[in-house]
Amino acid sequence: MPVSDTDLIAAARAAAEQSYSPYSNFAVGAALLFADGSVVTGTNIENASYGLALCAETVAIAKAMDAGVRGGLVKVAVTGPNDRGGADAITPCGRCRQVLNELAQLGGTDPEVLCVGPHEVKSVRLGELLPHAFGPASLA
Ligand code: THU
Repeated sequence: MPVSDTDLIAAARAAAEQSYSPYSNFAVGAALLFADGSVVTGTNIENASYGLALCAETVAIAKAMDAGVRGGLVKVAVTGPNDRGGADAITPCGRCRQVLNELAQLGGTDPEVLCVGPHEVKSVRLGELLPHAFGPASLA
């Protein structure tokens, strides 16, 4: 069964349930979909030293790469708190765009990023979020 957008978003939301975000109280979930149909999730992990917070997308990428994945990233779903009326869909922070780009460039893909908000799902390509990216290809 192919993984639908709804499935991927549900996976990101489920990941956010494990968020460790006592300082911001802003639980984020990320779900990465790979060409073989596998899904790897992550959530944000904060720290008493505030600036050391790890974003959900970065955690998901680290989990995937730790498992040996080096490409095939086709889609990403990112979810934020859905109980904050008025908030827009959240998009990956700048650092996460760069971290996502590493795996995307390694596999030669430009993943679709589903940015999930309380009222809408924004679909953008990583290449739109991070144009003219610096990555492994830049060092070749
Ligand atoms: N956060 C993410 O997990 N991903 C993003 O792309 C943006 C921000 C987290 C970091 C911090 O734990 C909380 O959201 C508030 O900034």
